[in-house]
Amino acid sequence: MSANVFPVPADVAARAHIDEQKYTEMYRRSVEDPDGFWGEHGKRLDWIKPYSRVKNTSYDFHNVSIKWFEDGTLNVSANCVDRHLETRGDQPAIIWEADDPNEHKVITYKELHHEVNKFANVLHGQGVKKGDRVTIYLPMIPEAAYAMLACARIGAIHSIVFGGFSPDSLAQRIDSCKSNCIITADEGLRGGRKVPLKANVDKAVEKAPVDCVIVVKRTGSEITMKDGRDVWYHDEADRVSDHCAPVEMNAEDPLFILYTSGSTGQPKGVVHTTGGYLVYASMTHKYVFDYHDGDVYWCTADVGWVTGHSYIVYGPLANGATTLMFEGVPTYPGPGRFWEVCDKHNVNIFYTAPTAIRALMGAGDEHVTKTSRKSLRLLGSVGEPINPEAWTWYHNVVGEGRCPIVDTWWQTETGGILITPLPGATPLKPGSATRPFFGVQPAIVDAEGNFLDGATEGNLVITDSWPGQMRTVYGDHERFVQTYFATYKGLYFTGDGCRRDGDGYYWITGRVDDVINVSGHRMGTAEVESALVAHPKVSEAAVVGYPHDIKGQGIYAYVTLMEGEEPTDSLKKELVTHVRSEIGPIASPDLIQFAPGLPKTRSGKIMRRILRKIAEDSFDSLGDTSTLADPAVVDDLIDNRQNRA
Ligand code: PRX
Repeated sequence: MSANVFPVPADVAARAHIDEQKYTEMYRRSVEDPDGFWGEHGKRLDWIKPYSRVKNTSYDFHNVSIKWFEDGTLNVSANCVDRHLETRGDQPAIIWEADDPNEHKVITYKELHHEVNKFANVLHGQGVKKGDRVTIYLPMIPEAAYAMLACARIGAIHSIVFGGFSPDSLAQRIDSCKSNCIITADEGLRGGRKVPLKANVDKAVEKAPVDCVIVVKRTGSEITMKDGRDVWYHDEADRVSDHCAPVEMNAEDPLFILYTSGSTGQPKGVVHTTGGYLVYASMTHKYVFDYHDGDVYWCTADVGWVTGHSYIVYGPLANGATTLMFEGVPTYPGPGRFWEVCDKHNVNIFYTAPTAIRALMGAGDEHVTKTSRKSLRLLGSVGEPINPEAWTWYHNVVGEGRCPIVDTWWQTETGGILITPLPGATPLKPGSATRPFFGVQPAIVDAEGNFLDGATEGNLVITDSWPGQMRTVYGDHERFVQTYFATYKGLYFTGDGCRRDGDGYYWITGRVDDVINVSGHRMGTAEVESALVAHPKVSEAAVVGYPHDIKGQGIYAYVTLMEGEEPTDSLKKELVTHVRSEIGPIASPDLIQFAPGLPKTRSGKIMRRILRKIAEDSFDSLGDTSTLADPAVVDDLIDNRQNRA
């Protein structure tokens, strides 16, 4: 092993579900005999009708088809709620920590059952049926989990839209999956600031009309309700019973759609189904976080992202865990908030994103060290590569050197964690996601798709299916095939670059396509470009990522103005505001450079490689620019770059 390896601490190994030897044995079986392995582990769920067939998957480019447990039937909400009533009805299922540090709520499994049944009946009352798509646009309040589980209970497919997305983005997602019902709140509350969710919905439905809007009261501020369309959740809940039988679903019936950005076009509706997804989410939750009964587990993500789906709601609740749900932000009321919440609720397992770690690291150690954190046993990281400095700070200062860090690599498309340490089995190396989870077969290929052996670097592919894999792009299977299986025929292409070291450890190096990762939020550069060119003063735009100390990547926009427009600072501000209103605050450009021309090939293709280099402030290695239609534009771009070291 190379230097800087952190062995598994003895106490961690002693209590862990999986040690090194067990990992090796289970991993081998999982890839040599997937039917046997998953057939056994599928039993972790309660099935209404047991499956007889386990894996039926094809990565053949001409016939991509992914099915797991295909003849089994089950219900996800029964697995996440009902089946725990007898053994752990009075155990906390959800601990909700509000934005305001003086407010929290504990919801037991019994209470969760009551709430989910009510919510399911409210949906029925609004005419929502099995197979219907329901858009959820909620803040991080318990009703978000109730709504998800209620949809699952009646067989409706939820599509959660992150509360930070604009009315236009929301409208586009409502329209794309032809959703007829929206669940929202009057307002959200984050860091003491109100988020006008219902007002955003009102704007969105002007473009994408729906039959019903169910509104949860959160702040109590004045909002407009439209008769015949909008109903208050609490009014409807008062009228319905708290019994709603879970609907029998096929393992391959869709559970949810979640939109995510790609290199081209509009966001894709990633479809996850019922059986395989839940088997995979619950199994990874148990083993990656080494979850034991009675542990308090906290994932700081938002349910608007896949991490919130799999590791706040579905995985933990399927395991009968206590999951903490946090409404606020890491720095409110102060940068000690995370650690204060850990002490307040005795959190044992804490899972967050590198961008939050870097921001808190910058705020000073005293905000951490003034708290006890003695309950913490395990730390996790997700969403982007974690730089060794942030890893080391997380390990030494937050975890006082005693808590292993699981750096978990996965994607919206993968449903659950694919490459990760297991705390009792895997020696750690700062910055490496280490080794594959059971059943996952990563490989590294070169640009032509040749497999590269041993210690190497290239593009990360997965050679065979695992149960949590997305099944299709909603309404567009061909786009699914083209996006993930066309680059390297017969292989799932992740879009990530990756290095493998001599110990077989994987090191994710970041996206190799036109997707950028800003504070762990995934964004297509094409989306930001189309928002910019929608502005009347913009003629052309090219967007790239650049290294950003806190966000991981920042958004760098090159903008060519219409003839006669003045390149002023106030126009820059106007463009930022414009992008925020088109997509949402997460897409705000950090740097805008007005460029009289963009570097293009003679056939008119923008040479992004050059733009990336300039944005990175490393333009002495621009490579060959002789094929450009007008090489002189490059000098102007360099002279006026916005990111000087
Ligand atoms: O580039 C990888 C990065 O996030 C991308 C997936 O983004 P999204 O679908 O939004 O899901 C994020 C949460 C699962 C990946 O293609 N990524 C995610 N986790 C890691 C990571 N990069 C490096 N290390 C990670 N642990």
